[in-house]
Amino acid sequence: MSESIRVLLPEEKVNERISQVAAEISRDYAGKAVHLVCVLKGGVFFTCELAKRLTIPVSLDFMSVSSYGSGTESSGVVRIVKDLDEPLEGKEVLIVEDIIDSGRTLAYLMEILEKRHPASIRLCTLLDKPERRVKKQVKVDYTCFSIPDEFVVGYGLDYDQKYRNLPYIGVVEF
Ligand code: IMP
Ligand code: MG
Repeated sequence: MSESIRVLLPEEKVNERISQVAAEISRDYAGKAVHLVCVLKGGVFFTCELAKRLTIPVSLDFMSVSSYGSGTESSGVVRIVKDLDEPLEGKEVLIVEDIIDSGRTLAYLMEILEKRHPASIRLCTLLDKPERRVKKQVKVDYTCFSIPDEFVVGYGLDYDQKYRNLPYIGVVEF
């Protein structure tokens, strides 16, 4: 089976928007340091681009979770595949995600991370599909783009582990 990719958000537009959001975060955290928690693998490209544009002190940590579920539906039961290297206690934590879909993964992750007593915990995502939200309690503090309910790849997002390296966001067409 071969698929093609239709450009949804070109590289310049994505980068311009990341700069805007980074400026907003730098203002909101003025006088503080932010601890970015990158959710692997999808969040890695966005985390790097965002971190480069922040003007406040930044520290970074990485976490990898896998959601039990079949096909394209996540179940909300999340297994930690790789935990953070450092404690979160007293830190201003900003979780950096590639996309929020049903919100199940994030709802579970927030619950785990809040128990580690950070000074604050906020959520930043490159993409959001609000129509798909099941977990309404997931409050997104920073969203670069809200997109329609279509399967997208690029900028870290994959289809079957492919296309993560595309420098733009595209819709997969079969
Ligand atoms: P949620 O638990 O339903 O919010 O699942 C979110 C996760 O599903 C994301 O972190 C992605 O790994 C994956 N995902 C959801 N929508 C897409 C998409 O359009 N393209 C690629 N991955 C997606
Ligand atoms: Mg993800």
